Amino acid sequence: MARILTGIQATGRPHLGNLLGAIEPAVQLSAQPGNESFLFIADLHSLTAIKNPVELEQNTRAVASAWLASGLDPEKTVFYRQSRLAHYHTELTWYLSCLTPYPMLANAHSFKDKAERLSDVNAGLFTYPVLMTADIILYQADYVPVGKDQKQHLEMARDITESFNRVYGEVFKIPAEVINEEVMTIPGTDGQKMSKSYNNYIDIFLPENELNKVIKKIVSDATPLEEPKNPDTDNTFKIFSLVGTPEQVAEMRKNYLAGGYGYGHAKKELYEAILTRFSRHREIYNYYFENPEALEKQLKIGEEKAEAVARKTMEEVRKLMRFA
Ligand code: AMP
Ligand code: TRP
Repeated sequence: MARILTGIQATGRPHLGNLLGAIEPAVQLSAQPGNESFLFIADLHSLTAIKNPVELEQNTRAVASAWLASGLDPEKTVFYRQSRLAHYHTELTWYLSCLTPYPMLANAHSFKDKAERLSDVNAGLFTYPVLMTADIILYQADYVPVGKDQKQHLEMARDITESFNRVYGEVFKIPAEVINEEVMTIPGTDGQKMSKSYNNYIDIFLPENELNKVIKKIVSDATPLEEPKNPDTDNTFKIFSLVGTPEQVAEMRKNYLAGGYGYGHAKKELYEAILTRFSRHREIYNYYFENPEALEKQLKIGEEKAEAVARKTMEEVRKLMRFA
């Protein structure tokens, strides 16, 4: 049995790129027999950027609702908020901090990058990789699926864990990252990578009229309606090919090539395909987002399971450190 663990920051409502590029593949991975998955919302990490408690809570609810909407089964996956187990995460972070060389953190790419860009360079940003290490080893994870940008954090996690094992005794498993190089990049409404920072994203949870407006804004060229069009260079077609059925996609390709079919037609079909493909997602998302108590119940299932694992690890750690 391999234990897979990953954290997701509480950055708000995931967009189509997050859903197709990260959330759905992770839900599928965690549903595979033989894998035991720990999936958590890294709301303590998000504190490095978000100070407004209401905003952070809303973001956490949005992220959790979207994961549940994407088919995550809280009975099969250990799904939890890091903050609800903060006593374990932060306690272990302190022990690990005292084993982490200052230059290792000072030279981390992501810290240097953020220190240059952000006006709020707080100590949390600096010790971010130590908290991330604690997140992983507290649950004795074998594999950590992450994006390429997190590779150095995982290398640091291994170094820090090895130090602990060397100094106090072999308690922790050494985690390995899993980086999927060929993750699909979902294009946005302007053809660049779909991203919040480019403001070119499609939020599939929007009310219908607003969703329709976003889709109408997809950038296309000026080929007149009657002329044939190239589906492979058109943004609407590219996005449609990710959400339509294979038959619908083949049909739309034919229409583009034949001419007499405009981008407006394609956008209308894309809007309908998104509503069809994600109708259940939208229902589940809205249900949980609007019923915090129902959402709480789902998260509590995971938080209880996580608590048992974290408590056991910390009991061993304290014993080794002669704090118990
Ligand atoms: P971010 O909020 O940008 O850190 O993204 C969260 C997750 O969604 C990461 O695993 C990203 O790799 C994934 N993701 C974000 N944007 C896209 C995109 N346009 N296509 C595919 N995956 C994406
Ligand atoms: N730093 C990760 C990110 O920004 C989120 C994260 C926090 C994480 N703790 C983790 C990922 C533990 C994997 C394992 O994407």
